[in-house]
Amino acid sequence: MNNTVEQLKLRFEEALSAAFGNEYAKVEPLLEKASNPKFGDYQSNVALSLAKRLGQQPRKVAEKIIQELNVTNICETPQVAGAGFINLTLLPSYLETQLKSIYTDSRLGIAEAKTPKRVIVDFSAPNIAKEMHVGHLRSTIIGDSIARVLEFFGHNVLRLNHVGDWGTQFGMLITHLRETKSVNDYDLLNLGELVEFYRESKKRFDDDDQFRERSRKAVVDLQSGDDEAKIAWKFLCNKSRIEFEIIYALLDVRFDEERGESFYNPFLSQVVEDLDKARLLVEDGGAKCVFLDGFTNKEGEPLPLIVQKSDGGYNYATTDLAAVRYRIEKDKANRLIYVTDAGQANHFAQVFQVARRASWIPENIEINHVPFGLVQGEDGKKLKTRSGETVKLKDLLDEAIIRARADLENRLKVEERQETEEFIANAATVVGISAVKYADLSQNRTSNYIFSYDRMLALQGNTAPYMLYAYARIQGISRKGEVNFEQLGDSFAILLQHETELTLAKHLLQLDDVIYAVEQDLFPNRLCEYLFQLSQKFNQFYDRDRGVPVLNAEEPLRTSRLVLCNLTARTLKLGLSLLGIQILDRM
Ligand code: ARG
Repeated sequence: MNNTVEQLKLRFEEALSAAFGNEYAKVEPLLEKASNPKFGDYQSNVALSLAKRLGQQPRKVAEKIIQELNVTNICETPQVAGAGFINLTLLPSYLETQLKSIYTDSRLGIAEAKTPKRVIVDFSAPNIAKEMHVGHLRSTIIGDSIARVLEFFGHNVLRLNHVGDWGTQFGMLITHLRETKSVNDYDLLNLGELVEFYRESKKRFDDDDQFRERSRKAVVDLQSGDDEAKIAWKFLCNKSRIEFEIIYALLDVRFDEERGESFYNPFLSQVVEDLDKARLLVEDGGAKCVFLDGFTNKEGEPLPLIVQKSDGGYNYATTDLAAVRYRIEKDKANRLIYVTDAGQANHFAQVFQVARRASWIPENIEINHVPFGLVQGEDGKKLKTRSGETVKLKDLLDEAIIRARADLENRLKVEERQETEEFIANAATVVGISAVKYADLSQNRTSNYIFSYDRMLALQGNTAPYMLYAYARIQGISRKGEVNFEQLGDSFAILLQHETELTLAKHLLQLDDVIYAVEQDLFPNRLCEYLFQLSQKFNQFYDRDRGVPVLNAEEPLRTSRLVLCNLTARTLKLGLSLLGIQILDRM
């Protein structure tokens, strides 16, 4: 409802200028949403801040403002409260008009960005030949939601999967592959074995000096473009990718481009050269590095960011420096977003600092590292299987679906319902996957969270099933009353009489504020919280005792309430879609 806030601000400006003269017109009226409904919908403390400047009593100032404040058609008569606050309560008639205007808009009143940006979202980014772990799952879920929100605003989003497909680990992988399989047998290597294969290679690398030496040479071969090394490398990358794709398909996540670390190879030497030209490069024990501002070791000496190792090799930081440049210069991005665990916060701060000092990041470019916390098991420790192994993502998602299915089958039995296998399988998949996604997104991403199937699959609480159920329940109203929501026409009146109707209406009008906030600060949990409250407010409105009748109401109330139902459903659907969550008409 930010246009309401904007309107109110204008009215305040006029009132302040009329009451105290032009020089006071621009005092920020600070229209905060009142946290307690007793104080109306908005509360302004402008009189308090003005009173100091004017040397007058705050309550008197507030009264003077109110006398000049013209908010007819928007609010009830403004009230002075407490030390001199001004409380504003929106008029039902105003809410009714606003609701009607968002109802007739397919975007529910949310305007597209006036100046769309080219935004790069760098997310997921698992590493070749290693297991994609829960950290990558978080990055995938959060990054996808952020990309969806930005796309919804009409930004030109480039979703990049910065896969770890380069680095010294390939030396041992290639060597082990070459020494255990002939090229023609590569394809016999089964996917499940890839991680085992990584372990074997690592073990040989750690135990066998000569193997280690051959591995080093393989890295050089690969970097110098040796054909045989490249075939082995490509093979490993493709195998991994197929495995990652299974997870992405299950999660309904897509990328615009697979641009792994190797993509930036041709630009690495230029990075080092240009840092040298910018006089930032220092040689330290054979390695080339940039000494950082604000990062020191235990002795208080500045820390270096190494960009070229003493053996001539480049590293993770060099690649990210090349990537920043490429994304700004070639992709023409004006906002860069990186979604990784909080453990990489220093890495990014350092890379961005060096890129800034090298003048590779123009002023008007916004860069956000979007950090997130750990996923923990119910014991508060790192997530493990019962037998103590790291959890495979595919297994984790499958388990959520299996449990969702068991819950559903139980409910069908209790409710004595018969459903087709197709219905059950689809509902279980949607609920299972949504539950995992929502459990992740609904947490403030900077904190760790505990992975609990029981909690995320519960029908009560801030969970996906609760939200999906609210949506399905509304569709149930349309089925039961044989009302086609799409055909309620547009000549209806919206009438807000009951308290639960007003509360629901006000909440429905806040969607744009919330989505806009997510676009700015990239915290999808705000949207989750909003949708959770929406479902709760809807359930109160529809509650037999506390709420109002809908299908059994007399016209014109019946249509008005059906409109509220449909608007709630559309809001849930849109909000959930921005979280990457599908809805179910029945469940
Ligand atoms: N592959 C890295 C990891 O698994 C994440 C890459 C994140 N993106 C980046 N541009 N560094 O930790």
